[in-house]
Amino acid sequence: MLQDQITKYTAEINAFDTTNAGELEQFRIRFLGTKGIIKDIFDEFKAVSPEEKRTLGKVLNEFKQLAEAKYQALNEVIESSSSQTENAALDLTLPGEGFEIGARHPLALVRREIIEIFNKLGFSVAEGPEIEDDWHNFSALNFPEEHPARDMQDTFFIKKGGEKGDIALRTHTSSVQVRMMEAGQPPFRALMPGRVYRNEAISARAHCFFHQVEGLYVDENVSFADLKQTLFYFVQELYGEGTKVRFRPSYFPFTEPSAEMDISCSICKGDGCQMCKQSGWVEILGCGMVDPNVLENCGIDSKKYSGFAFGMGIERIANLKFEIKDLRLFSENDVRFLKQYKTAII
Ligand code: DAH
Repeated sequence: MLQDQITKYTAEINAFDTTNAGELEQFRIRFLGTKGIIKDIFDEFKAVSPEEKRTLGKVLNEFKQLAEAKYQALNEVIESSSSQTENAALDLTLPGEGFEIGARHPLALVRREIIEIFNKLGFSVAEGPEIEDDWHNFSALNFPEEHPARDMQDTFFIKKGGEKGDIALRTHTSSVQVRMMEAGQPPFRALMPGRVYRNEAISARAHCFFHQVEGLYVDENVSFADLKQTLFYFVQELYGEGTKVRFRPSYFPFTEPSAEMDISCSICKGDGCQMCKQSGWVEILGCGMVDPNVLENCGIDSKKYSGFAFGMGIERIANLKFEIKDLRLFSENDVRFLKQYKTAII
């Protein structure tokens, strides 16, 4: 009886093969476990006659050794293959897989910085369409029909004539002022960043598209002093304390009085360099008190309300901040240029 069982199980053990640790463990429990087959057979062995014990004892020991040897051999194979994959995962001599972290575009960095500074003064952010009609881009802003002031900005027209006048790519973000004022009543305190288009030959100093940030503040009793103080604060925040400002009288159809604001050159600190053409000053924006005609065009009582507006080119601000001398770099998407700003402002 016992001999039959041993013969049967010997065949099973000899035939058994696996590379799976779980299957091997099952094998171990079945044959070598504390309640396993070998234990059972040894228990039964105790009851056989002394004669049988002599012959069967040897067979039984060999059977047990066979099971143990099988287990060990398979276990070794499994362990060595799993330690091989573990070692491969931890091979510290392999070269690392490099990957590049992207960088924000310098214009996006500067736009965000400008917005953050004005946020502190309570300015929100508004946007408008890049394809505009004549009313929002020109007429509402007090550009008279056929007035040479329209030539100040070389316009890309999309459609001549039409219900709302010519349709064009907006030449400035001042159009968003009009949309904002038409849509509500004061107080208005907003920044309007966006892309604008002008029909200009592309060079280091001009491009057919660029970016502006418009600012508008309309409420009761807003004065030129508010305008000056707001822009002075902005410049101290952006270029550092001690940056000087000066206002030069200028002309824009939509503001009266109008001014252009210069700052002491942030690069040479006023000593004179290439960027400021040796003058120590650089112009950074146009501004003024919103012309009462513009307020009225947008349905706002110009006797009750007054306001100031300003507009600046983001590229110009970025040029000064990062000393970039060629406007074309901003739109060429050369990663060697763009990745320099990775650590500028995150
Ligand atoms: N729109 C003007 C431009 O593109 C910039 C500007 C000047 C905007 C004066 C203003 C302003 O709001 O008051 O050249």
